[in-house]
Amino acid sequence: MNIIQTPYEQRRTRLLEKMRRGIAIIPTAPEVARNGDSHYSYRHDSNFYYLSGFSEPEAVLVLVAGSEPQAMLFCREKNLEREIWDGHRFGPDAAREQFGFDAAYPIAQLDEKLAGLMGNQPALFYPLGHDAAWDQRILKLRGAVQAKARSGIRAPDEICDVRTLLREMRLFKDGHELSIMRRAAAISARAHRRAMQFTRPGQFEYEVEAELLHEFCRHGARHPAYTSIVAGGANACVLHYIENDAQLKDGDLLLIDAGCEVDGYASDITRCFPVNGRFSPAQKDVYEIVLAAQSAAIAAARPDNTWDAPHNAALRVLAQGFIDLKLCCGSVDAVLESESYKKFYMHRTGHWLGMDVHDVGDYKIGDNWRTLQPGMALTVEPGCYIRPADDVPQALWDIGIRIEDDVVITAQGNEVLTGAAPKSVAQIEGLMMQS
Ligand code: GLY
Ligand code: MN
Ligand code: MN
Repeated sequence: MNIIQTPYEQRRTRLLEKMRRGIAIIPTAPEVARNGDSHYSYRHDSNFYYLSGFSEPEAVLVLVAGSEPQAMLFCREKNLEREIWDGHRFGPDAAREQFGFDAAYPIAQLDEKLAGLMGNQPALFYPLGHDAAWDQRILKLRGAVQAKARSGIRAPDEICDVRTLLREMRLFKDGHELSIMRRAAAISARAHRRAMQFTRPGQFEYEVEAELLHEFCRHGARHPAYTSIVAGGANACVLHYIENDAQLKDGDLLLIDAGCEVDGYASDITRCFPVNGRFSPAQKDVYEIVLAAQSAAIAAARPDNTWDAPHNAALRVLAQGFIDLKLCCGSVDAVLESESYKKFYMHRTGHWLGMDVHDVGDYKIGDNWRTLQPGMALTVEPGCYIRPADDVPQALWDIGIRIEDDVVITAQGNEVLTGAAPKSVAQIEGLMMQS
């Protein structure tokens, strides 16, 4: 017997243990039409892929827990005619073999088989509320099983959101996930270096975006993990700026928030640098404050600190910096207490990172921020966004800076996955001067 399990099989086994009794039904994502006959580039459902490694559309994972646990896949049948047009499909037999399922069936048999499999199961584990069409289909199937009550067959009484179990599992990255995330981070760091080497006054933001995408793609990362933000000058003060169509001006900063997806895992890096390769004194003053805030936050991202420790560490440095720059007045404690810093720093310092760029995982347990533990992956991304205002020194107007790295908590502290993207003033100016 083959006892060595793939990471996907190991995760299925763990989920089956956590379920104890019942049936789990986890569909992958649907294909989505863009317009006419075009579809958006297909992206599997993260939970489905986490448990299967299977990236074809029209597939459903079914797990039956209990004394004889079973993992089943429903997927598209082989279809040589369709494969001529759309490419390879595994089909149930090859999929069962290759992805380690106990059984695999054509997706067309899903309803019929589920009606049997749901019978006499005490609980249904399903992502209820995620997709209305699936909700309707699954609840209708459960209704059909309920209608068999007189023949002694019971439908699952309990419906549990399977995502509750999965988000806790996904929060702790295993070795397989970390090796993919390191690769995604390294490719994204190369893309940021390339952007720094390429950028000149007079270019358009989309030209720099093209360099990022080129570097992602040439390393096999075909898609960004989210729409790249390439924001010159004042555009950097729009947190979710994605137009990327303005011309870059001599003397402005360029903020790039871009990361690729590799094998279903996201990276998420932000760097800011001067379009002409040299920080002005005012830009440098603000940049050094954000960088110091980020260093303090990364230092606080370690086991046994709570989730908000990095944020609080960044806030103290930013508050002092904003006082020094005459953006805020009073003491650090007063700035934190009054939240006057929020005019210039209005977001939090990070989020969980994984298959989704804003990954799943609870931030609080009950009323308390949760404790950081080895295997958790997060971003650390303080910033400062200064819009023109009468009470703001004019030299600082329209400066928008964010510095973002991807960090994994380790037993000793943390591992920064994205350190290859230059970040100090000297590193950035040095790289841009060479190019
Ligand atoms: N790029 C999305 C974020 O930084 O949260
Ligand atoms: Mn982020
Ligand atoms: Mn980002």
